[in-house]
Amino acid sequence: MKEKFYITTPIYYPSNKFTLGNCYTTVICDTIAKFNKKLGKDVFFLTGTDEHGQKISLSAQKAGKTEKEYLDEMIADAKKLWQMLDINYSKFIRTTDDYHEKAVQKIFNALYEKGYIYKGKYNGLYCTPCESFWTESQLVNGKCPDCGREVKVQEEEAYFFKLSQFSDKLLDLYKNNPEFLLPNSRVNEMVNNFIKPGLQDLCVSRTSVKWGVPVEFDPKHTIYVWIDALTNYITALGYGSDDPSLFEKFWPADVHIIGKEIVRFHAIIWPAMLMALDLPLPKRIFGHGWMLFGGDKLSKSKETGVKECVDPRILIPRYSADAIRYILLREIPFGSDGNYSTETFLTKFNADLCNNFGNLVSRTFSMLKKYFDGIIPSVEKYRENEINLQNKVLKEKDNVLEYMKNFDVSKAITSIFNIFSEANTYIQLAQPWAVAKQEGQEEQLKAILRTLLETIRIGVELLEPFMSESTGKVLSAFNLKTNSTFENIDNFDGLKANEKIGELSILFPRLDIAKELEELALLS
Ligand code: MSP
Repeated sequence: MKEKFYITTPIYYPSNKFTLGNCYTTVICDTIAKFNKKLGKDVFFLTGTDEHGQKISLSAQKAGKTEKEYLDEMIADAKKLWQMLDINYSKFIRTTDDYHEKAVQKIFNALYEKGYIYKGKYNGLYCTPCESFWTESQLVNGKCPDCGREVKVQEEEAYFFKLSQFSDKLLDLYKNNPEFLLPNSRVNEMVNNFIKPGLQDLCVSRTSVKWGVPVEFDPKHTIYVWIDALTNYITALGYGSDDPSLFEKFWPADVHIIGKEIVRFHAIIWPAMLMALDLPLPKRIFGHGWMLFGGDKLSKSKETGVKECVDPRILIPRYSADAIRYILLREIPFGSDGNYSTETFLTKFNADLCNNFGNLVSRTFSMLKKYFDGIIPSVEKYRENEINLQNKVLKEKDNVLEYMKNFDVSKAITSIFNIFSEANTYIQLAQPWAVAKQEGQEEQLKAILRTLLETIRIGVELLEPFMSESTGKVLSAFNLKTNSTFENIDNFDGLKANEKIGELSILFPRLDIAKELEELALLS
């Protein structure tokens, strides 16, 4: 039986159109999902939208629409965006889906029946845009620590989840499973900022919020949006429905990938809920850093004054899904924050995609055509220079496999591009054009070109989960299947000798950066 792999994105709020920041998390997950498929695993990749809560209602009202009308339009736009970005999810869950709402009610009932939920009175500080209650000590300058906006005192009858009972269990969890929450620094944040000061019971219902899932046995209460949202990871698999077969197969998740600002919900509330339900916990939670635009996160509750064009709906058709995926995957060290700027993107496009990768492929293909009529040569024996390059390629390949075990997409894609740089350096060293001019050096020329072709093949196989459009073109020109499991990535014998390679169009056309910057400024 195939090993299974279950990966999730957060479910995004469709209160605004999705940003390049949302694309970041989705692209990472899509890449990790595709990579694990190529490793031969049975992969389930979940994404979706978090559609309840006051903020969604307010956005719909502002647009002069009902919630349903508003959401359907936003979700159509989101799905189109994921298609443009070449995202292949297994399932898209909407928290307004009927099966999800029913399962949330069942889960709430179960927690109540087990005595983990009780009725009380809530008196707290609430930030409406973030849908979060805060304690006095968590506020920053008296304002919401997430978005910096005003909070207001609110009192109401409410149901509570006994989160305070889980402090020791959570501390044990982090201690006994050092891999549970990554990167490791996030564990200290949870322990020092939330658990050590003392976990309070969590208010899990609101009577003032109408747009949400009602508590089944007390319907004037609406279930707190985060309880509703977190359960998506199991309801999407059919937990709480008539057909829990996917749940039985795929739960626990191998990893929840989320932004660092929502780690506390995933590393505290979610495991506590699962423990209360007697369900297994996700194996790992990865809290990635932010992509900053002019120093800001384009955050969910704040407008920014960014003057650059950062709309993925404009950037993707103009530069390709591959190019946008590349900059998202490469530029932000995984786990830390990173800066996006149009200028860096365009510069990297020319240097890495066009020069390093694109040029290597087109140079090699044209040399093969010129010297061997496009026929892949067979080679008896490689010399030291070729073997040196081959060893470097295999070492980088090992690095890629290792980094991907820890979901470090940024280091992995850097290693893949090192393969292309090494090959370019080797061309300078091997000087095939000079060898071609020498009498009796045909075998050597064959060895050089075969090594280059095989290097490109291995690099492209590894790169396919990251950027499938350009790599697909190269694989097809090699007469190799796309989206197949990794084969022959540890040898230089993956191409059929004496076969003719196919035609290949330019992978990444060189950009005139000044002109692009000017045109993009007009579009922003
Ligand atoms: N709905 C909640 C998540 C519920 S999960 C059970 C939510 N949604 S959100 O739309 O506000 O944000 C979702 C995610 O978008 C963040 O966790 C983060 O992964 C991603 N990002 C949004 N802007 C981002 C950046 N600028 N940089 C990196 N990731 C960003 O929170």
